[in-house]
Parts: sequence; C-alpha cells; structure tokens
Amino acid sequence: MIATLQAARVLERSTPMGGGVELICETPLAADVHPGQFFQVAVESPGALLRRPYSAAWTDPTRGLVGFVFNVVGAGSDWLAARNAGDRIDLLGPLGRGFAIDGGRPAVCVAGGLGIAVFIGLSNALTGRGRSTTILYGARSADQLLPAARFPKTRMQLATDDGSAGHHGRVTALLSNAIVGDADIFACGPTPMLVELVRWAQRADVRLARIQVAHETPMGCGVGTCLGCALPRAGGGYMLTCQDGPCISADLVEWTRVVDAFHG
Ligand SMILES: Cc1cc2nc3c(=O)[nH]c(=O)nc-3n(C[C@H](O)[C@H](O)[C@H](O)COP(=O)(O)OP(=O)(O)OC[C@H]3O[C@@H](n4cnc5c(N)ncnc54)[C@H](O)[C@@H]3O)c2cc1C
Ligand code: FES
Repeated sequence: MIATLQAARVLERSTPMGGGVELICETPLAADVHPGQFFQVAVESPGALLRRPYSAAWTDPTRGLVGFVFNVVGAGSDWLAARNAGDRIDLLGPLGRGFAIDGGRPAVCVAGGLGIAVFIGLSNALTGRGRSTTILYGARSADQLLPAARFPKTRMQLATDDGSAGHHGRVTALLSNAIVGDADIFACGPTPMLVELVRWAQRADVRLARIQVAHETPMGCGVGTCLGCALPRAGGGYMLTCQDGPCISADLVEWTRVVDAFHG
C-alpha cells in the first residue's frame, strides 16, 4: 500500500479519559487503513523537526474519519492536544504493517495504558468478523480507563495499579484465567508488559507465534530510511519497527535485547 501525504481536518477534540485526548479527523486516507497501522503526524511545536507516529485508533471509512487517542508527554503531543475543530493537521500514511486478523479463533487483546488506543479499531474488526473477543486492560487508576462502551460486543477485564477498578495490580495477572485454549493474542502497551506477556507464554507453553504485539517505539522517519526504530530479531540482526511492524509476531523478536519503548 502506498503512503500518502495529506492534510486532514479536525472535526472534534475530546478527553475520553483522564490523561487522554481524542482527535477525530476527516480524511479520505481513512479508507486505506488496516487496524494497527499508523500515521506520521506533522507537529508544529518549536524545535520539533520530526513527525510523530500515532496509531489510527479507529476509522470510519464510509464517513472518511480517523480517530487518534493519545496522551501528552512532550512538545509534539502537547501541540497535537491543542488542536481544535476546524484545524488542519498533516498526515503521512497509513504506514507499517497492521495486525493479521483473519481466522476464527477467539481473540484476547492485552492493553496497557495508552496501548488501548489501537484496540478500538482492532476489536471492531475482530467482532465484525464474528470472532469472540476479550480485552484485558490495565491502567494506573480507574479515571485513566477508556470507557468500556468504546468496545461493544467484547468482554472486558480490568486491572489498575491502585486497585480503583478491577484487579489490584498488573494486567498480566489476568492472563492465566483469561487465555484458555487456542486464542490469538494481540498486545500493545509498555515494554515491561510485553516482556511479561512473553515470559508468561513461555511458562504456559503458549506458542509465541500466537501473539502479535504492536511495538510502539521511538521513530525518526517512519518509512525505513533512518534506521532509528531497530528491533532485535530472533536469531540475530534487527528488524525495522516502522516497516516490519509495528504489529509483529512475538516469535520473531529477541525479547532479551528489547529496550523500553513507549506507554511506560
Ligand atoms: C507506531 C506507533 C504508534 C503510536 N501510537 C500512539 C497512540 O496511539 N497514542 C499515544 O499516546 N502514543 C502513541 N505512540 C507514541 C507517540 O508516538 C509518542 O508519545 C510521541 O511521539 C511523543 O511525542 P512528543 O513530541 O510529545 O514527546 P517527545 O518530546 O518526543 O518526548 C518527550 C519525553 O517523553 C518520552 N516519551 C515519548 N513518548 C512517550 C510515551 N508515549 N510514553 C512515555 N514517555 C514517552 C520521551 O522518551 C522523552 O523523554 C505511538 C508510537 C508509535 C511508534
Ligand atoms: S523510523 Fe526511520 S527506519 Fe524506522
């Protein structure tokens, strides 16, 4: 698929959960997005030379809409969070490989923090294919959870660090009870969460090839030229997250050499 550069119009800005901003943008590029793909978004904050990568959290191809859900961590996201209805933002994409979603097995999505963004669109695509879908979702506290109403037709299990909703502790504590049989597993969140998921799978004899992770790591160009997004490949060498991912089968990654990425 060819990535396109295009201005999108912001239709709506909202704060769907504590620490989260949602921008709904109008763009014909919505029709080309596969769940898990991302855009390189131009930000005009002083000193921010590079575009910033953001997953298309969801799309509505019929109405030409793309939703982005993100938190403010620095200059670029601060600028983006200040956009309002009627503003224009410049998108390059859709980029990278999305999730492989065909098949009939039950699906279990494991989300940590802002990693939940990508599961709005993914869970719609999975349930739309008739796949039984469970979401295990962890956040720091109840106020930072995206409302369950955003995930219709799914079963949701929650975990919070402070115990204010669901299990008191890490989302990975929910894995053993939720993942039974031959489910396909989709994950996005802080690197320690992904590493813990992989360790759990190894202990539980779950094949890593059944797990796809969206690896949201710092990126320079987003299109395979700067080599800034290298990810250690199982068996040696490196992959490029922006081209071989961001959605990558967990068996292809050398997890002992993965360094912390985003959503920490
Ligand atoms: C493929 C892909 C998809 C992504 N999708 C999303 C998404 O849907 N929603 C979302 O919120 N983010 C997403 N991210 C992360 C997002 O790109 C970064 O948060 C963003 O680039 C930060 O830009 P900035 O200019 O605000 O911060 P910078 O000025 O670049 O960074 C400021 C400081 O914050 C740290 N930092 C940067 N990003 C994060 C983060 N996310 N969490 C914690 N610390 C951080 C940096 O290391 C630095 O110390 C995605 C990243 C990738 C690679
Ligand atoms: S971000 Fe430049 S090569 Fe991947």
